[in-house]
Amino acid sequence: MPSSISWGLLLLAGLSCLAAGSLAEDAQETDASKPDQEHPACHKIAPNLAEFAFSLYRVLAHESNTTNIFFSPVSIATALASLSLGTKADTHTQILEGLGFNNTDIPEAEIHQGFQHLLQTLNKPNRQLQLTTGSGLFIDHNLKLLDKFLEDVKNLYHSEAFSTNFTNTEEAKKQINTYVEKGTHGKIVDLVKDLNRDSVLALVNYIFFKGKMSQSA
Ligand SMILES: *[C@@H]1O[C@H](CO)[C@@H](O)[C@H](O)[C@H]1NC(C)=O
Ligand SMILES: *[C@@H]1O[C@H](CO)[C@@H](O)[C@H](O)[C@H]1NC(C)=O
Ligand SMILES: *[C@@H]1O[C@H](CO)[C@@H](O)[C@H](O)[C@H]1NC(C)=O
Repeated sequence: MPSSISWGLLLLAGLSCLAAGSLAEDAQETDASKPDQEHPACHKIAPNLAEFAFSLYRVLAHESNTTNIFFSPVSIATALASLSLGTKADTHTQILEGLGFNNTDIPEAEIHQGFQHLLQTLNKPNRQLQLTTGSGLFIDHNLKLLDKFLEDVKNLYHSEAFSTNFTNTEEAKKQINTYVEKGTHGKIVDLVKDLNRDSVLALVNYIFFKGKMSQSA
């Protein structure tokens, strides 16, 4: 049933915030995230993420003609939020608004800190399940990447940016697919099958999950 699936995914986002609260004293937190003990940074963005998950689910369910839909709203939101770091003006506003963030509600720095905290929590080693997420930005080699952008995507989003020669589509495909294959412990191979010569950017996000899944009522 589609509805139980969307609840499962929301639960994942919700649980991760819960875990973040109990792990707030963990020494692994980096200075930049500065979660205060009672309101970890990811609590602030949780309602927006939930709303984004619902809106996206509505669109996907409407467009899909199958019964089950499997998607990761957190992965999609994370990829777009990291991309927003490299944008300005209207594009910038549109990405954040598309994710349900309104500048007047949460200062932008806190949005990014929220994602940073969420990713740290999700990627924390856990005995019962293995979960790893990551994202890579493949950007045309003719575009010069600003150091500040590279630092921010790395520090806040555990994301890597690569310079890619998209004119050489075979090499570009190989670069992207190797990245995904490594990140998913060889579980996803040849993700990208076709790549347009005119591409200037590929935004790739993977999520590797290994654990027992129980059926929800
Ligand atoms: C469902 O959608 C897929 C892809 O959009 C399409 O190939 C397929 O024919 C559709 N099936 C039905 C029963 O509409
Ligand atoms: C942002 O929120 C404020 C206050 O809730 C509202 O007045 C404004 O229209 C919103 N802006 C957008 C772009 O949604
Ligand atoms: C990019 O790829 C094209 C096509 O293979 C090649 O002709 C060109 O020399 C490459 N550019 C660089 C800077 O490697």
